[in-house]
Parts: sequence; C-alpha cells; structure tokens
Amino acid sequence: MPLVAPSFLASNFLRLQEECDMVNNSEADWFHLDVMDGRFVPNISFGLPIVEHIRKATSKPCDVHLMIEEPGKYAQDFKNAGADHLTVHYEVCPHLHRNIEQIKSLGMKAGVAINPHTPVLLLADILHDVDIVLIMSVNPGFGGQKFISHTIDKIRELKRLIKEKVVNVLIEVDGGITLENAAPVVHCGADVLVAGNTVFKSDNPKAVISKLKHL
Ligand code: DX5
Ligand code: ZN
Repeated sequence: MPLVAPSFLASNFLRLQEECDMVNNSEADWFHLDVMDGRFVPNISFGLPIVEHIRKATSKPCDVHLMIEEPGKYAQDFKNAGADHLTVHYEVCPHLHRNIEQIKSLGMKAGVAINPHTPVLLLADILHDVDIVLIMSVNPGFGGQKFISHTIDKIRELKRLIKEKVVNVLIEVDGGITLENAAPVVHCGADVLVAGNTVFKSDNPKAVISKLKHL
C-alpha cells in the first residue's frame, strides 16, 4: 500500500483550514508542500509562513519539497517552521552531501529530488545518506501537467539500485499522478504518491485519497 501525500499547491488557499481538515480526516499519510522561488523554477508558490500555519493545523508529517536555489540557506528556517521532511533538488546542489547532512543534523528526514532529465544513476553515491528520493514525473514548477511516461523506467531503475545497495530509501513520485496511472507507478516501485489536482480538484477528495491508498 503506497503512502499518499496530497500536494497543497492545488488546494484552495482561501480555505486552507478546511483543506487541512479534509486531509486530516482522510487516509492521506503526509502533507506535501511545494516551495518555489521563481529562479530554479519559473513559478512562485508560497514560503515559510504558510508552512508554519499548515504545520499547526495537522499532526501528519509535513513533507516540504524545496524548488529553490541555495536551499542550505533556508534549512534551519524550514525546521523552525515545522518541516518534518526536507527535499532539495539535485540540480541546484553542487555540495549535495553537505546539504543532506545539514538537513539530518537539524532533525528532519532528508530527500533529494531529480528532474525528468536527470538520470537516476547520478544518485548512486548519495543513496546511503538520504531517506527519500523524489522522482519528478513532470517538469517542476506547476501542478496539473501530464505525467511523463519515461518516469516508469526511472522508478524501476531506482528500485534496482536501492536493492543493489541495500539501503532504506523511499521512492516518492511527484507530478501528473492520476487514478489511471497510480497503479503502474506503484507496481514498478513507488512508495509515496504525491497528488495535487487529482485530489483537490475532485468532487470527493477524500474518496480519491482512499482510492490511491487501495489501488
Ligand atoms: C510540481 C510540484 C508538484 C505538484 C503536483 O512542481 O512539485 O507537487 O503540485 O501537482 P499535480 O499532482 O497536479 O501534477
Ligand atoms: Zn512537489
């Protein structure tokens, strides 16, 4: 059974309390919070104050996906805001090992995310150190995009690598997850499904979350 992490990027920001209550009362496992800087990605979403408010509205883990340059500058701030998991992008971290160690030393679970064009094999020498690998199945920056089908091969490859290295790493897949493609994504090795539009834009979000849990 996969873990399900609704992405609040697709939620109604004017009704955040209700959206949090809905996820709290659902079978969802994590809150997925997308932070963007308008530099690494061509969009700006929300930042620390929203993470802080959402943190206070739930006891479920807050899974913060940083799509920002120089994430190390803000790791302590996100810890203070209540992030439980902090995921940084491979593409902006020339000293990734240092970033990962910093996140763990602050007491958070550490994740690394890769863009659709970034090969899984580039993570071979950091797999021992991370808790989560987030595979982007769309180009980061926007919700509601179409799942890139090549992601399936990348999930399989990562699963193989994790087995080979005998490490304890969760595979999180983010972008374009629907009720149609979720089963094959889990079947080939995903442990965590992030879903934005599929959950929040549905008429019955709680039922959709339940369907994603019980594929
Ligand atoms: C995109 C974000 C995703 C996004 C997913 O950059 O990382 O988490 O919210 O949204 P959907 O599920 O609508 O593709
Ligand atoms: Zn995300």
